[in-house]
Amino acid sequence: MNQDKIGLDEWFELVSQSYLAPPVSHKGKTLPAFPSDIIQANTTGQSGVATLKEAFIFYKDSVEAFEAFGKPVLESSRILDFGVGWGRIARFFLRDLPLDNIYGVDVTREFTEICGKTFQSENFLTCQPHPPTSLPEKYFDFIVGYSVFSHLSEGACMAWMKEFSRILVPGGIVALTTRGRPFFDFCENQKKKKEGLYLTLRNFLNKKKPSGYLEALGELFEDFDAARARYDRGEFVHSNVEGVGGGGALNTTFYGETFIPEAYARRAYAPFFDLEKFMFDPSYQSHPIMFFRKK
Ligand SMILES: C[S@@+](CC[C@H](N)C(=O)[O-])C[C@H]1O[C@@H](n2cnc3c(N)ncnc32)[C@H](O)[C@@H]1O
Repeated sequence: MNQDKIGLDEWFELVSQSYLAPPVSHKGKTLPAFPSDIIQANTTGQSGVATLKEAFIFYKDSVEAFEAFGKPVLESSRILDFGVGWGRIARFFLRDLPLDNIYGVDVTREFTEICGKTFQSENFLTCQPHPPTSLPEKYFDFIVGYSVFSHLSEGACMAWMKEFSRILVPGGIVALTTRGRPFFDFCENQKKKKEGLYLTLRNFLNKKKPSGYLEALGELFEDFDAARARYDRGEFVHSNVEGVGGGGALNTTFYGETFIPEAYARRAYAPFFDLEKFMFDPSYQSHPIMFFRKK
């Protein structure tokens, strides 16, 4: 462990200040700027310190797990943020790594352009929904992906896992979040809300059916019990009903809502990866994290 590193809580404060009162420097370099609050909220559901807090929890869980697995993040490590968005997660790794060792890919060009400008780096690349990428073989020590394998189809997840195995060094680690079991209940509750007073009122007023994301979540599965049962049997559960595609480049051929259970994560990716840990404590995490080690 590098003793010169700023403490984790202090680091969170510093990154928060880089949003609240920019510019803020760390190790003589200005921390990356932010896109508008609207762009932040469109991609992460929140903006400002609230969205940074969620990212920091994932960052902290990840660096602590990497260390526990015997592979701490070193200054010489290279990391790829898969589905980097506007760099919410990637910026936290500036505590551990020089900017040159931090990379990001995203299918949405607008986001990689934002990262290019705000991080002042050429390491942010636009990719296709499915691999391959132009990234070199055996190049990265770590790959992180927050809120991406909570959306991709089974085929897209498998293709990306193969690509991750190609671009990771032997023993490299991947940390990916997915939807957790409680999210079935959350979505089902949207349906119940809709079927209740809300719908009665809407029908009464004869208004057009709205297409909001929350309402679409209520339609994720015709039968939520059956979806939960598939999850409990260790099956990959994905839905791309209307309204849960991300818009823009994120079409429903590969994008929707995805629940990957632990048994599936262990079994399906076993040709390339060992599942080191499936971490989920809903008391503080909004998504489970799957940690894999390249075989
Ligand atoms: C919910 S956002 C999360 C962004 C970022 N990881 C964060 O936590 O702030 C999902 C991101 O994944 C990207 N994405 C979706 N499908 C992708 C794919 N097939 N390949 C690469 N990126 C993808 C989207 O463009 C979007 O930026």
